[in-house]
Amino acid sequence: MSRLVVVSNRVTIPKKAGDAPAGGLAVALQAALEERGGIWMGWSGNSSGDREPEKLDIIERGNITYALTDLTDTDVEEYYHGFANRVLWPICHYRLDLAEYARKEMAGYFRVNRFFAHKLAPLLKEDDIIWVHDYHLIPLAAELRQMGFKNKIGFFLHIPWPPADVLFAMPVHEQIMRGLSQYDLVGFHTDFDLDNFGGGLVREGIGERMEGGRKFSTYGRTFKGGAYPISIETKAFAEYAVKASRNAMVKKAKDSIEGRDLIIGVDRLDYSKGITQRIDAFEQFVKLNPAYQNKVTYLQVTPKSRSEVPEYEQMQRTVAEQAGRVNGALGTVDWVPIRYVNRSVARPLLAGLYRLAKIGLVTPLRDGMNLVAKEYVAAQDPEDPGVLVLSRFAGAARELKGALLVNPYDIEGTAHAIARGLSMSLEERKQRWSEMMDHLLEYDINRWCDDFLKDLTTD
Ligand code: UDP
Ligand code: G6P
Repeated sequence: MSRLVVVSNRVTIPKKAGDAPAGGLAVALQAALEERGGIWMGWSGNSSGDREPEKLDIIERGNITYALTDLTDTDVEEYYHGFANRVLWPICHYRLDLAEYARKEMAGYFRVNRFFAHKLAPLLKEDDIIWVHDYHLIPLAAELRQMGFKNKIGFFLHIPWPPADVLFAMPVHEQIMRGLSQYDLVGFHTDFDLDNFGGGLVREGIGERMEGGRKFSTYGRTFKGGAYPISIETKAFAEYAVKASRNAMVKKAKDSIEGRDLIIGVDRLDYSKGITQRIDAFEQFVKLNPAYQNKVTYLQVTPKSRSEVPEYEQMQRTVAEQAGRVNGALGTVDWVPIRYVNRSVARPLLAGLYRLAKIGLVTPLRDGMNLVAKEYVAAQDPEDPGVLVLSRFAGAARELKGALLVNPYDIEGTAHAIARGLSMSLEERKQRWSEMMDHLLEYDINRWCDDFLKDLTTD
């Protein structure tokens, strides 16, 4: 079997098994690479100031060889905070209003991709399979091809791909599409994303869609496309959750809610996650259902993310103020309706909290997949499962048919779904849950990885 070389911007080496940073990409890749071994190259998360970073830091951990590089301050600013997170992220999440395009940052993005290619090149063997991840590294294959590499190179996008009219608002959309054409396989979470990609190529007159939209021909190359819904280690996560119920912190959390129904939300602090709309929906729910006053606790776990980007920094204040305002308006001397935790919680503890919660509230305005939705389902007690309230705009909504689907822009609709979830019969909960769990057991992280790599390596 050929060696697998994974490249992503974010690489975090776990201190111990089960540790992973908050973020779907890292969580999923950790699981996939632990299973089959290989190299994982990427940014260490550290800056080298204004000095050009030197050697890669090579760290062996179990099956995985990590190869990490620092980046200069300018690189971090222009490539990561700049083009990746102020242009590609908002555009791919349909937020044209938040995109701030600057040519200097775009140039930094392409420069850092070239730098990654030069750092990676000495590690590569002729028959390595290279798998590049996410929007930070779209031009990487083009750089490697220019250096003469003929390896199979696959790309997986962990975020949505927008429709043509949204994409075309990005001044360099053509270079980005050209970058994608240098891969052998370009994978998305859903066929909606894949359709958007093919649609954009055809609309712009730069490519052709073949074989029912699973093959593309453009810029003199033919390459495959596909939909590969990312997932979790379903079985292992379910076992975690059982163990976690005996965890002292989870017991403390359980005691502290004093028999109230728990609603849980878990998201990086990101405008795509719909956190402010969700808090509004919770407030509406309590106002519309006074019988639930003092009978319910909403726990929102929200680690800080990308705080150097202005929209994220501002959101930190907005959400904290909003949670405070709602607590002030609804709370009583013995009841704090919203518990807002503005830091990361380790996944083993999260697993226990998911299991305690009667409702998993996952209401992004737009999300590639959303692993939290899948983790919530996997963590439930089969004899008394909770209800997943899920945004129709998360990729996960295409698979998790047993969820109560909501439109997160419809605040009252989400409030009604919370009420419906809390009063749902045990029989209906079990039936909805087992349908979702069966799906997740079949389509787990290994299946995602196998399906992608099979399509990448076969002709
Ligand atoms: N996560 C975590 N601790 C936290 C918050 C989130 O470990 O405090 C994990 C969560 O369990 C999930 C991932 O981060 O595995 C988030 O992935 P998701 O696809 O939901 O969203 P993303 O952050 O990738 O946009
Ligand atoms: C999403 C993206 C990942 C990213 C993660 C955390 O999952 O798809 O590429 O790593 O968010 O964001 P960060 O900017 O902290 O890496």
